[in-house]
Order: sequence, then structure tokens, then C-alpha cells
Amino acid sequence: MIALEPSTKKRPEFINVRVRRQDAPGKAPYWELHKIKYEPEMNVISVLQRIAAQSTNRDGKKVTPVAWDCGCLEEVCGSCTMVINGRVRQSCSALVDRLLADNADEIVLEPMSKFPVVRDLVVDRARLFQGLERVKAWVPVDSYYNMGAGERILREDQERNYPLSQCMSCGCCVEACPQYNKIELTQKSDETAEEFEARKRQAYSEAFVGPHAISQAMLFNNHPTGKSLAGERLDALEGPGGLASCGNAQNCVAVCPKEIPLTTSIARAGRATTLHAIKKWFDK
Ligand code: SF4
Ligand code: SF4
Ligand code: FES
Repeated sequence: MIALEPSTKKRPEFINVRVRRQDAPGKAPYWELHKIKYEPEMNVISVLQRIAAQSTNRDGKKVTPVAWDCGCLEEVCGSCTMVINGRVRQSCSALVDRLLADNADEIVLEPMSKFPVVRDLVVDRARLFQGLERVKAWVPVDSYYNMGAGERILREDQERNYPLSQCMSCGCCVEACPQYNKIELTQKSDETAEEFEARKRQAYSEAFVGPHAISQAMLFNNHPTGKSLAGERLDALEGPGGLASCGNAQNCVAVCPKEIPLTTSIARAGRATTLHAIKKWFDK
């Protein structure tokens, strides 16, 4: 039997959308149903725009607009990531015709479960970025003067680095990772905003850093200038919440929208940290 292309199938007049909403951090989540008119070639962002324009739920009751995040609208910034019909992905590249081909009854939208919810589909990804900070995922500035052309990068290294450089810090890999557990703290009544921020940073700094950060450490350790911090990155990966927290379930690599070879990076990081530990032992 020849499968029909999604676009050639009969389309419904309306689409049912179920959204998991949350009014503020720490509040109880609840489901809200919406019904919008079907239009061809919509993505999930355009569905959310139609919902906001309607400002009523499926029963016609007035509701506040659903909050969501987005930036580039072309799967580059990673900010629109959410769980769509049970699968973590970018809402800007989630095409409604394809989603309806898989499930004609409804589209289900939920925030990522590994980060604290700010509101509705917007989550606080600070821990994801702190993971990059922990492994110093950057090229250090080597001078404020024009030093001329940088060191040449071998083709072999370019080919190894390019796929890793496509990471957009979207969070799909950590959402799928069984070792990356949600940390959600609330501000105590006797705590200042600064003290609360410091407590959150401390909690994040001890938890699993995540596959995205391990992979970025391998990218910058293989860069001619970036490798000047290689030892510090490997020290971070050897420490609490580093490589030892990875259970090798390989879920991360299966969901990365950029098809980054995360488990290859993790294996490479394992070899590099072992050599680094041996070297440090001989250097004592
Ligand atoms: S391989 Fe490691 S980082 Fe990737 S999903 Fe499994 S436990 Fe998480
Ligand atoms: S490694 Fe892939 S899934 Fe993880 S944050 Fe980067 S782009 Fe997203
Ligand atoms: S809006 Fe940037 S990835 Fe979707």
C-alpha cells in the first residue's frame, strides 16, 4: 500500500489543541483545551498565535493568552523547545500537517519537564547555560590587540568540530536524559533575591552538567586557542556532576535536532579525563 503524503490527506476544519498551563513558578499546572480553525502549512508557533488571538478556550470562556518563547523561527536559537505530542522538539519546526498525520485528534503542548516553569510553556533554562559555564565552553580572549590570522585548523579537526558547533542549547538532550533530574527551588521568606540566586547556582553546580556541556567541552578542547583551558574543562568533567553521572543510556543522541554525536563526545571525554588524571598523577 502506498502511504499518502500528509498534504494529500483530507484535513479537518478545526484542530483541537491541549495545552499544559501554569500561571507562575511553583503553581499547580492544569490542562486547557483550545479549538482553532485549520489552515494549511501552519507550525506550532502559528497555532499558539491563533490561540492568543482568540483569547478564549474551547468552551468560549475568556482566558489569558498562553505564554511561550521563540526567537529565530528557523530552528537555530533553541528557545521555542517544548514537548509536542510527547516528543521534545522545537515548536517553530513542528509542522501541523505532519502532527495531524500522526494524531488527527489533537495536538498536545507541554513545557519541558527538566526545568522550572516560568509560565505556561516558558521554562527557565539557566541551569543549561550554567552547565556551559562550568566547562568553560568558550575560546578565551588571547589579546585585545590585532594578532593577525589565527592558527590554521586542520581539515580533520574542522570536520570533527563542525557538527559539535551546531549546538543551539535547546535542551532536548537533557529533557531526554534519565540522569538529568529537575531542580526547582523556591525563594524562602527570609532570603534576598541574591541569596536565592546563589543557592540555585550552588544546587546546579553539584548536579549533572548534561551531555550538551560535555560535547561543548570536547569542541573547545579541540580548538587551537580554546585548548589552552583544556585541563580546567577536564577537571570540571572529573568533578561532581561530571562524566561519572552519565549512565550511557544514549537517549540524548537520539533526540538532538542537530544530530550532534553526543555519545561520541562523551566517549572522547571519558578517554581524555582518564589521560588527564594519569598525567596529573605523574606531575605530582
Ligand atoms: S548517554 Fe549520558 S548524557 Fe546521554 S542520555 Fe544517557 S545518561 Fe544522559
Ligand atoms: S546537544 Fe543537541 S539537543 Fe542538546 S542542547 Fe545542543 S542542540 Fe540541543
Ligand atoms: S524559534 Fe528559534 S529554534 Fe524555534
